[in-house]
Amino acid sequence: QKISVIGLPMDLGQARRGVDMGPSAIRCAGIIERLERLNIEVEDLGDIMVGRPENANDPETNLKNLSLVAAGNTELAAKVDEIIESGSFPLVLGGDHSIAIGTLAGVAKHHGNVGVIWYDAHGDLNTEETSPSGNIHGMPLAVSMGLGHPDLINIHGAYPKVKPENIVIIGARSLDEGEKALIRDKGIKVYSMHEIDRMGMARVMEECIEYLRERTVGVHLSLDLDGVDPADAPGVGTPVIGGISYRESHLAMEMLAEADLITSAEFVEVNPILDERNKTAIVAVALMGSLFGEKLL
Ligand code: ARG
Ligand code: MN
Ligand code: MN
Ligand code: MN
Repeated sequence: QKISVIGLPMDLGQARRGVDMGPSAIRCAGIIERLERLNIEVEDLGDIMVGRPENANDPETNLKNLSLVAAGNTELAAKVDEIIESGSFPLVLGGDHSIAIGTLAGVAKHHGNVGVIWYDAHGDLNTEETSPSGNIHGMPLAVSMGLGHPDLINIHGAYPKVKPENIVIIGARSLDEGEKALIRDKGIKVYSMHEIDRMGMARVMEECIEYLRERTVGVHLSLDLDGVDPADAPGVGTPVIGGISYRESHLAMEMLAEADLITSAEFVEVNPILDERNKTAIVAVALMGSLFGEKLL
């Protein structure tokens, strides 16, 4: 197995500066060395450049920085496509969660029936019509389902990239009204904090793995660090209390490693400006270690 690491230092999908330093913080926390220690071949492809024109807002839409977010994701999609084409595993470092649009567009080129685990406090299922903020990082899952602005849903090939029945959301605890309606309407599977509390993370992951194994080919893990409780991962732009603990997250990653299910992954929303001594990037790296098979003995 070979892993190709690619960063997209994007902060234009939301309003708080600093999340563009996420890829650096994760490299500083030692991701490359950590994976190498597992005897995995790792290549670091560096970061994609994000443009910064002065006025990036298109007055025609309610979407902040639409053209720049679309441009960054178009480049990322091509890179992810190329990585999978070469037989390697794409590990994408964000950046805000809008970068999932590009990752999934690249992945979908290869896996027509791809599954998605959306590990997040949020659903990121807004559209231009339902978004309370105009922030594109609140929209990538809807975009990947083919719902949203044409400049986003058409990136790197035909939409939809992902079928609603192939999605499992884990850790949800903050959903907007339009997102709730969409979840009900499309029948998207959600393990909210309520189910995690009730069933325990072990059973949630068992069910999630079985559900995706039955119906998908290839599974993408999109892990927003705000899915983890802010006590363990404070360096995020939209923290929500009452989240998944570090231990539960660690177990979830180990169970995914054992299941040998994941074919691409991204870790997003690490914001070092809001963090405490790089704690959140360190958590991200620990979770990546577990995801790629790290064991105590
Ligand atoms: N639902 C809110 C919005 O649409 C927050 C989204 C937060 N998304 C994230 N990837 N952190 O603006
Ligand atoms: Mn989130
Ligand atoms: Mn998110
Ligand atoms: Mn462990």
